[in-house]
Amino acid sequence: MSRIFITGGTGYLGTVLVRQALAAGYTVFASCFSQTPPATAGATWAVLDVRDPQAVAAQFNQCRPDLIIHTAYLQTGPDVLPVTAEGAGNVARAAAAVGARLIHLSSDVIFDGEREGAYTEADPPAPITLYGEAKARAEALVAAAHPAATIVRTSLIYGFAPLDKLSRFALDVAAGRVATQLFTDEYRCPVYVEDLAAALLELGGIPYRSVLHLAGAERVSRYTFGVLIAQRYGVDPAGIPAGLSAASLTRRPRNCTLSSDRAAALLQTRLRGVREVFQAIGRQGG
Ligand SMILES: NC(=O)c1ccc[n+]([C@@H]2O[C@H](COP(=O)([O-])OP(=O)(O)OC[C@H]3O[C@@H](n4cnc5c(N)ncnc54)[C@H](OP(=O)(O)O)[C@@H]3O)[C@@H](O)[C@H]2O)c1
Repeated sequence: MSRIFITGGTGYLGTVLVRQALAAGYTVFASCFSQTPPATAGATWAVLDVRDPQAVAAQFNQCRPDLIIHTAYLQTGPDVLPVTAEGAGNVARAAAAVGARLIHLSSDVIFDGEREGAYTEADPPAPITLYGEAKARAEALVAAAHPAATIVRTSLIYGFAPLDKLSRFALDVAAGRVATQLFTDEYRCPVYVEDLAAALLELGGIPYRSVLHLAGAERVSRYTFGVLIAQRYGVDPAGIPAGLSAASLTRRPRNCTLSSDRAAALLQTRLRGVREVFQAIGRQGG
């Protein structure tokens, strides 16, 4: 595996993937969509709309990647299905046509969140949001077009340099800049972006197919995550209003705990829990 193509290279995860892949010695190709291609030394950038199957196929034909990591997506807006679902299908077909290994990024919100325990790779998708539906549809399209692809389901992605959008939001809530509650009954397994990128690159070298959960080792509520982030940045967590997702007017997946036991057995890279990461990185570190 020496040539890698990262779709969504300008995204939060994609940026770290590009950096880590370059450091690992890959020949790196990456795509962006609305942003100007960054001047990352060593990477070759392309502007690519994954909704355009011919453009995706032409790009892969030209770059001839051994490994493709598909992170590009949209979470909201009228183009969610064309970009997130159909776009993933386009990427999978084009990846199969050039014989490239494909890792597709999916999400824990493909589940309805109604279960008490953790979801495993064997659990079938049951989305209850438009974004969840798009991701579930993407999984099906990818599996059909590229049966050897790995579908990676992950959870909330966070990091510190720069701070991710979830953490920024929690700090805004804690500081009273945004008036809302953080839910004490909505559980996720936040994953540190550096751990996730390293695990994805390691996975690229392993012929594992089908679904794999890559999420942080610790399950926390959105409220607890907000408290931990506030404490890390010296903001008083007492300012965070606690609420119940169950009482919200919008139906939201509540318990999206993912079991990553299979990944722990398969990979050297550890997907640490939030408290372990915060402790390891310290208050000022990045
Ligand atoms: N963030 C999370 O907490 C989380 C949780 C679970 C799963 N995931 C999954 O992890 C992956 C990465 O998430 P992220 O937060 O790193 O994403 P992100 O920061 O929102 O970046 C999205 C990327 O998709 C690109 N993009 C948007 N529309 C496109 C189009 N039509 N054609 C091609 N590229 C397009 C964007 O390019 P431009 O910026 O250049 O427009 C950007 O590089 C996604 O697949 C997501 O579903 C994320």
